[in-house]
Amino acid sequence: MVAQTDIIKHIPGGRVLDVATGNGGFIHFLLEGLKGYTEIIGIDTHPRGAEAFAEAFKDRPNIRFEKMDALSMEFPDASFDTVCISNSLHHFDDPQAVLRQMARVLRPGGHFIVAEMYRDGQTETQMTHVHLHHWWAAVDRTAGVVHNETYRREEIVALVAGLGLQALALHDLSDTSENPLAPEILAELNPAFDRYIQRAEGHPDLQARGAELRQRVHEIGFHGATSLIAIGTKPGD
Ligand SMILES: C[S@@+](CC[C@H](N)C(=O)[O-])C[C@H]1O[C@@H](n2cnc3c(N)ncnc32)[C@H](O)[C@@H]1O
Repeated sequence: MVAQTDIIKHIPGGRVLDVATGNGGFIHFLLEGLKGYTEIIGIDTHPRGAEAFAEAFKDRPNIRFEKMDALSMEFPDASFDTVCISNSLHHFDDPQAVLRQMARVLRPGGHFIVAEMYRDGQTETQMTHVHLHHWWAAVDRTAGVVHNETYRREEIVALVAGLGLQALALHDLSDTSENPLAPEILAELNPAFDRYIQRAEGHPDLQARGAELRQRVHEIGFHGATSLIAIGTKPGD
């Protein structure tokens, strides 16, 4: 069977930047797939994920977290061999601005990886993920956090097209092989429901939406939505 991470197995990695890394979730994908790497730096404005990041990579001294705003990165031009952003473009008011910053710090010939889930063409069980994501985003916005709804596939393609990458490849990754009603999936989602229903205090409509979605998870089930992974190289090598 072909592993999903095979789509990056040709990339040497080198010095890698993971933008808006959170707790470093995408770095696990990189470690499984990349041909190699010398150093991986994950940056995020929020230190929330830093502890889990440090714990996950404690045995790998060349993987580290830095608190930094992706819109005003302190790294010199052309200082990375690979730059990545996963499931975070929708956390920016101006996603093109963050992509431009990433292109600035990437060396000519280096690899650019953009991963982002999308909302069209999903199964009913995957739509549970999309609806949940829209609810999480709406609750976050009540607290003033930038969190937009899930893109349509063509919107992500248009954003990436603006980068003018060479050898651009688009991959649609999804995995609906698990039982969408597996008790483990439901158990995993429960803490997020509890947290977000609490966070939506003062917004009865959003709290009611959370209860509806919890019901949906139990009746229809849940699968992760399909992600688009765009991979290309920066011209000018
Ligand atoms: C969905 S999470 C990260 C997901 C992670 N990349 C993964 O694939 O597991 C989105 C992240 O974007 C971060 N973020 C939002 N605005 C940012 C900015 N201006 N600079 C850096 N990180 C930012 C948030 O703090 C949050 O951790």
